[in-house]
Amino acid sequence: MNGEFVAWDDAKVHVLSHGLHYGTGVFEGIRCYETERGPAIFRHQDHLRRLASSAELYYLPLEYGADELREATHELIRRNGLASCYIRPIAFRGYGEMGLYAHSAPVDVTIAVWPWGSYLGEEAKREGIRAKVSSWRRISAAGLIPHAKASGQYLNSILAKTETAKAGYDEAILLDEGGNVCEGSGENLFVVREGEIATPGHTASILDGISRKSVIQIASDLGYEVVERDIARSELYLADEAFLCGTAAELVPVREVDDHEIGPPGEVTKVIQAKFEDALHGRAQEYLEWLDVVEVASKVSS
Ligand SMILES: Cc1ncc(COP(=O)(O)O)c(C=O)c1O
Repeated sequence: MNGEFVAWDDAKVHVLSHGLHYGTGVFEGIRCYETERGPAIFRHQDHLRRLASSAELYYLPLEYGADELREATHELIRRNGLASCYIRPIAFRGYGEMGLYAHSAPVDVTIAVWPWGSYLGEEAKREGIRAKVSSWRRISAAGLIPHAKASGQYLNSILAKTETAKAGYDEAILLDEGGNVCEGSGENLFVVREGEIATPGHTASILDGISRKSVIQIASDLGYEVVERDIARSELYLADEAFLCGTAAELVPVREVDDHEIGPPGEVTKVIQAKFEDALHGRAQEYLEWLDVVEVASKVSS
């Protein structure tokens, strides 16, 4: 927290922290995987770059550069002795001034790590999930900044997630303001139709997902045709295959949308998922550069 290592139970903030009241925070969700070379953080630099971009977009000056945050994260993982974990850096307006233009409130920066399994569960990754299109539209670029990973923006995802969970579905899919398919409540979305893999582009109010970028690269390298384009809601129902991807959920097949059967995980999804998993766990030689290995002291045998 702000440059200090603080015990879990002591990691507290003031109730008048600005971010708590107005959502003025930006954060990242990052994963560190156990690999042959030690704990390795997937696309760490890309996540830290997005954190800096989100902070810039919301006028939050960060006191720490990417190198400092990277080093602190490595040390945090070492001190906790974790082989794999979820990593949550957050920068938020802290305690000091209330009101909307609170430029004298400090921008506090904290990083937390803890063991956290796949967000939608291992079975979801294997068997696929039942998704529902939410009645809530994804925040539009006319009112907020879909490209930023900002705390307050997640009220939108939470409304969609809550609505669909209460209706008995595993995950929400949000449409954009124009009624086209956008993304899951915490994942980007891909559909496979007639040999083409499609995913909404940046003007569709998506978060610029790092898993999405990785999947596009992997699918292209495997020889698939990947296009970024508008996707109609009906295309979801008619898809040969569909899947979601995000850091927390990893790659999850969608087997049903709005009670339209897509089917069990298909061939394209399974091939891409397997390569993606290999990349995450350091088993894919060609994507080793995506891993930021945490140096841990090797055990001295007695
Ligand atoms: C709304 C939203 N879309 C997409 C994603 C996927 O992004 P990434 O792959 O960078 O985790 C996330 C997760 O961070 C998210 O919260």
